[in-house]
Amino acid sequence: MKTKAINLIGVILLLPTITFSTPTAGSAKFQWIFENIVLVLGLLVIIAVFFSLWNLASAIMNQKIDELRGGESIETIKKGPSIFKKLYDKSWNLIPMDKEADFDLGHDYDGIRELDNSLPPWWTYTFYLTIVWAIGYIFVFHMSDIGQSQSTEYAVEMEDARIAKRNFLASKPDDVNESNVIFVGDPEALEIGKTRFILSCAACHNVDGRGGVGPNLTDEYWINGGSIQDIFKTIKYGVPQKGMIAWASQIQPSTMQKVASYILTLQGTNPPEPKAPQGEIYVREEPIQVTEAIEEEQ
Ligand code: HEC
Repeated sequence: MKTKAINLIGVILLLPTITFSTPTAGSAKFQWIFENIVLVLGLLVIIAVFFSLWNLASAIMNQKIDELRGGESIETIKKGPSIFKKLYDKSWNLIPMDKEADFDLGHDYDGIRELDNSLPPWWTYTFYLTIVWAIGYIFVFHMSDIGQSQSTEYAVEMEDARIAKRNFLASKPDDVNESNVIFVGDPEALEIGKTRFILSCAACHNVDGRGGVGPNLTDEYWINGGSIQDIFKTIKYGVPQKGMIAWASQIQPSTMQKVASYILTLQGTNPPEPKAPQGEIYVREEPIQVTEAIEEEQ
């Protein structure tokens, strides 16, 4: 009975070991335990409840037996100290009171004597365990493929997040319009904007935006307004009477947003032989900021 209880304690003590050493995307078995930790814990609780009930039942039984034996406890009939007491004594390895004199170092501080006690075995064994643990840790996380180092784990999670973000955006309805459009500064979006610009707009605005049939898009002057909303609106509805096509039926709203953002990044690029400014100067409240490329194309 008691050995079973000790086994149970052992299992409970081992549990954090499992969770702590569980890498996010490590071996499948660890992964399973990690994902089903509630189930595992629940199972352990059930086992613990089962053993306590068992304990209780046997205690009641022992008591009954004691009664039948006429009050003489079954515990006293068993020989020697309990296994817990033995374990406790072993784990401390204390010098028995009557032998203390042999271990006295002769240092007396106000009546407190220094004994040549050895380190308690529970301490030394825990220490040895940390060494074994460290070896295991180094092997698992730094030498084998089972566990991942922090940096790999970080990279993997970032990659997962990037894919999740992309999927999320793809699943979202494309509802960008002239009232909610904002400048998108990430290089990926701007690249898409640029490609589309060269494909559909360069014919009239030139590859570098210096202008041609259409006005110069690199200067501070705008006929139809220079905010991201204005530019989006011009692209969407066009200025048909002046030769600028309405693109709403041909380009997705989110792509128009990217093209509009790309156009804003052309501000002040000073291409050669620019078309003379047209319209009014537009004063920007906030500077256009392109976000740093995320380390993803490795
Ligand atoms: C067929 C020629 C032509 C094409 C193709 C064209 N544009 Fe234009 N665009 C014009 C003309 C002409 C104007 C001037 C409209 C005006 O005077 O209001 C203009 C104006 C604009 C303006 C407003 C400039 C200002 O000063 O207000 C923006 C922004 C713009 N175009 C973006 C685009 C984008 C983006 C594309 C491609 C998707 C594109 N254009 C394709 C001819 C064109």
